[in-house]
Amino acid sequence: MDGIASVPLAAGCVPLLGHAPALIRDPLRFVASLPADGALVRLRLGPRTVVMVCDPDLVRHVLVHDETFDKGGPLFERLREVLGNGLGTCPHSLHRRQRRLCRPAFDGERFPGYAAAMTDLTEETADSWRDGRVIDVPAELTTLTARVALATMFSASLPVPVTREMLRDLGDIMGGLIRQVIAPAPLARLPTPSARRYRRARTHLRRSVEAIIAARRRDPGRHDDLLGTLMAAHDPETAPQDGPALSDEELTDEVVTFFVTGADPIAGTLAFTLALLARAPDVERRLHEEVDRVRAQGPVTFEHLPALELAGRVITETLRLYPPGWLFTRTLTADSGIGAVRLPAGTMVAYSPYLIHRRPDLYEAPDDFRPDRWLDPLAPRNAYLPFGAGARMCIGERFARTEAVLALAAITARWRLLPVTDRPLRCALSTTLRPAHLPMRLAERS
Ligand code: HEM
Repeated sequence: MDGIASVPLAAGCVPLLGHAPALIRDPLRFVASLPADGALVRLRLGPRTVVMVCDPDLVRHVLVHDETFDKGGPLFERLREVLGNGLGTCPHSLHRRQRRLCRPAFDGERFPGYAAAMTDLTEETADSWRDGRVIDVPAELTTLTARVALATMFSASLPVPVTREMLRDLGDIMGGLIRQVIAPAPLARLPTPSARRYRRARTHLRRSVEAIIAARRRDPGRHDDLLGTLMAAHDPETAPQDGPALSDEELTDEVVTFFVTGADPIAGTLAFTLALLARAPDVERRLHEEVDRVRAQGPVTFEHLPALELAGRVITETLRLYPPGWLFTRTLTADSGIGAVRLPAGTMVAYSPYLIHRRPDLYEAPDDFRPDRWLDPLAPRNAYLPFGAGARMCIGERFARTEAVLALAAITARWRLLPVTDRPLRCALSTTLRPAHLPMRLAERS
């Protein structure tokens, strides 16, 4: 087997900063260009070397061997500052216990309740819209999905100022985090306004969650929500039968994790979907027919999910074109091979669902929005990774898909969102992919 030196260096490397300028300038174009250099490609971010895995089978190899390819690298170092050792950031050694303890919060029986909160809050948002008004789509949808996250986590509604502060913290964290990840260390330490807001928000958000947990401890009662499920979790393997398994610090890590990793990607997915539909009149028309058939039976509910088949495929295709988690890193805990290359312990490895999803040799017309491609039994499902794979695969996939489909149905049943410019859709540099500035005009469907 060859060593790391055999892995080609990606084009666009400049002295000292390496590929950081190319990544910051146009991250998506840059990562999508990498497979042209090989199945594995070397990147330099300041003094660090990162091996980008560009082949879907090799990505799966990395994700399935999560003990050797453990969570690590710049993204997770920064994320740990916000999420502590929550489920998404904890090392392999802590992961299986935490996954067992969090599992009940995502059991199927909980979904009708979650779905009711999702549809109620979407209907409320749709009620508040007015014909002809121009809305900032990502902002509206982030408020909606963050409110859904808060409602499902803490069923009793939080005071409005607390909700507002948590929403602001979420925005500052997501906006600041990616700059901290991409920028070489000396630049990341500069007290820029974004860096200051990021640091303030991560402390403030944790304090808000700690206060909510402390209030629950004082008044335990029976709370049929995500926090209640986590507080009631027992792990016969590591805790006595009658004691709570998760400490307050662990609970804080998990709740902050679900809030930070959950709300933003669903909002981004819905925003991209509405923008894509406005550019695909045939898909939009068929979606309206499907949604109208369902709505003829009354408001959209959890039971309607199987009937919302095209809506499901529309979301699947949006997640292919714009996977919210577009870049993840791992660190090798031991010497190991990927494909024909042997990498030493400590090597940083990255994967990008965006890069895989846009490979023209895997997807026909990869940049086109074609929900019907998923009707083909030969569609490359092994190269579809918006939720990752292996033991660290997204625990919230069902939650996310349920919310995205129900919210899409509830919104399109009543509204069309029309573009106000013919500029191409652009992505913001954020921790998750989101449209940069997407104003759209509301048109009530008769
Ligand atoms: C469209 C929405 C979402 C997308 C695209 C998404 C994507 C992902 C991806 C790609 C991973 C794996 C990351 C890696 O390999 O390092 C992941 C993990 C995770 N996601 Fe999601 N996610 C979404 C929604 C959610 C929601 C709604 C929640 C919680 C309510 C959530 C909670 C988590 C957690 C806790 C992990 C870590 C799982 C583990 O390590 O065991 N996600 N997500």
